[in-house]
Amino acid sequence: MCGIVGYIGDRQAAPIILEGLTKLEYRGYDSAGIAVRNGDSDIEIVKAKGRLKVLYDKTNSGQSVVGCCGIGHTRWATHGEPSEENAHPHYSNDCCVVAVHNGIIENYQELKEKLIKNGYVFYSGTDTEVAVKLIDYYYKKYFGNPIDAINRSMVRIRGSYALAVMFKDYPDEIYVARKDSPMIVGIENNESYFASDVPAILKYTRKVYYIGNLEIGRLQKGKVTFYNIDGYEIEKEMTEITWDAEAAEKAGYEHFMIKEIHEQPKAVSDTLNSVITDGKIKDNAFGLTADEIKNISQIWIVACGSAYHVGVAAQYIFEDLVRIPVRVELASEFRYRNPIIDKDALVIIISQSGETADSLAALRESKRMGIKTLAIVNVVGSSIAREADIVCYTLAGPEIAVATTKAYSAQLAMSYVIAILFAYVRGEIDEKQYTSLINDLLTLPDKISRLLEDKERIQWFASKFSNAKDIFFIGRGIDYAISLEGSLKMKEISYIHSEAYAAGELKHGTISLIEEGILVIGVLTQQELYEKTLSNMVEVKSRGAYLMGLTNNGNYNIEDVADFVAYIPKIDKHFTTSLAIIPLQLMAYYVSVARGLDVDKPRNLAKSVTVE
Ligand code: AGP
Repeated sequence: MCGIVGYIGDRQAAPIILEGLTKLEYRGYDSAGIAVRNGDSDIEIVKAKGRLKVLYDKTNSGQSVVGCCGIGHTRWATHGEPSEENAHPHYSNDCCVVAVHNGIIENYQELKEKLIKNGYVFYSGTDTEVAVKLIDYYYKKYFGNPIDAINRSMVRIRGSYALAVMFKDYPDEIYVARKDSPMIVGIENNESYFASDVPAILKYTRKVYYIGNLEIGRLQKGKVTFYNIDGYEIEKEMTEITWDAEAAEKAGYEHFMIKEIHEQPKAVSDTLNSVITDGKIKDNAFGLTADEIKNISQIWIVACGSAYHVGVAAQYIFEDLVRIPVRVELASEFRYRNPIIDKDALVIIISQSGETADSLAALRESKRMGIKTLAIVNVVGSSIAREADIVCYTLAGPEIAVATTKAYSAQLAMSYVIAILFAYVRGEIDEKQYTSLINDLLTLPDKISRLLEDKERIQWFASKFSNAKDIFFIGRGIDYAISLEGSLKMKEISYIHSEAYAAGELKHGTISLIEEGILVIGVLTQQELYEKTLSNMVEVKSRGAYLMGLTNNGNYNIEDVADFVAYIPKIDKHFTTSLAIIPLQLMAYYVSVARGLDVDKPRNLAKSVTVE
């Protein structure tokens, strides 16, 4: 996810663009850049690695870059490390075409090969540079018409994009094109704006046009003309924005956390699509040869917090599918326990930030021991990403809320794909099982979306327990892993004490804590364990507990035991964590809101724990 902004009018563009980018830093902030021109002058491009402040300093707050027409970008790296070369804007070799982009060009490799065959050279590792040079290719090959060149490129590109393009031959014009990534166009008096999101231009205009998929906009001073992919002019409705600036940054959601909970379908879909194409896992998706995969003798999964809970779920999935021993360790324990690790083991480090001190130390300890390491990370170019032997990036985009949701879900998705690949390569599953698992996996985004539609019911139930003193989560197998994450979410943002317990373990002591009215949430997605956990729920009910059940559609007899039930759509048992966690995230969120707490920035917590 990145942020793009642009302006044409009678004022200096750079300061307006920079200010707009500051409103979009929540969309990405590892590098930034602007391209500005004055009339038919050359296009001046200035880029900087690091936070937007670096670009501000480099351009004297935009004063040193002269011109009334420009585009700008703040980056969240997905292809190519954070660097000045990889920062946007990107440009054709003669600067005839200059552009900024938010999105993912899925087929950029094949397009790059085509362009190299046609004499193009590349200076960056980004998919965006490929898109820019593809537009340049068609612009030079056919008539030198921006709309035609962009249309031809849109037909060839697979993926998502919000593109803004300046053509050297067309001063005082900016062309924008969109597919799936957000973009708006604003008009006020003799000025035109575009942006990824409303906050960037709300200061200047509330009159916006939402450009549709596969549509193009031609921005001139105070005027925009829209075209469809066939190049025909189309009419669009103008919308009046009623949000205030802060609400706009959250796209109308009250908190970043609830916004990010709703971004999970896309985070999971983007992550899966980064390693699966046409129903198959991409060759060499994880940088391990078939022989290397076959040679793995054991797997260690090491992480902290929610990432650790991904590991606990992954342990069950890997052992069931891949049939090799899997150890899950807290990074803070692993780094000091002098672990006994088989020389042919694979250590998997999971981390959203890629900067968690304990997880980084565990990675370094594993490498010191000569063990191969694979990292599942959300932040491109982070320390763990750079130091692991192999890195698998989740594509959740920047996660602002301290309590992780979409990154956790993206990590789960990546773990499933690795497990399926390993199981298939090692001959533990056949072609039919492989296909069935992949097909079921690809239904996750839609099923998550459907669960989010049920949020009002969860909100009603959560409001009944906003004054709870204790909340227990119980489950067996993968359901225990789900319970761990559900409990952490609740603790983190509601400050209510909570414990997750293996349901079969309750009777060995903890059940003494169960008394009248205590909420116990039973997680029952593993059908073969359903009756066992149900009987544990009956045990705590007989001691006065108030019961919530979380189970698969069809298990309606649970309503004879539980006081409230949330159901998840049917899916392969290995993937239920991704669905069951949705009601639990919502539960924690609504309890926190009911308690009037700072959901996005809970007390005592940091988004990334970069100290021991
Ligand atoms: C989860 O909601 C917490 N914010 C925390 O447990 C987090 O998962 C943990 O600190 C690990 O962070 P990482 O994924 O960036 O390494």
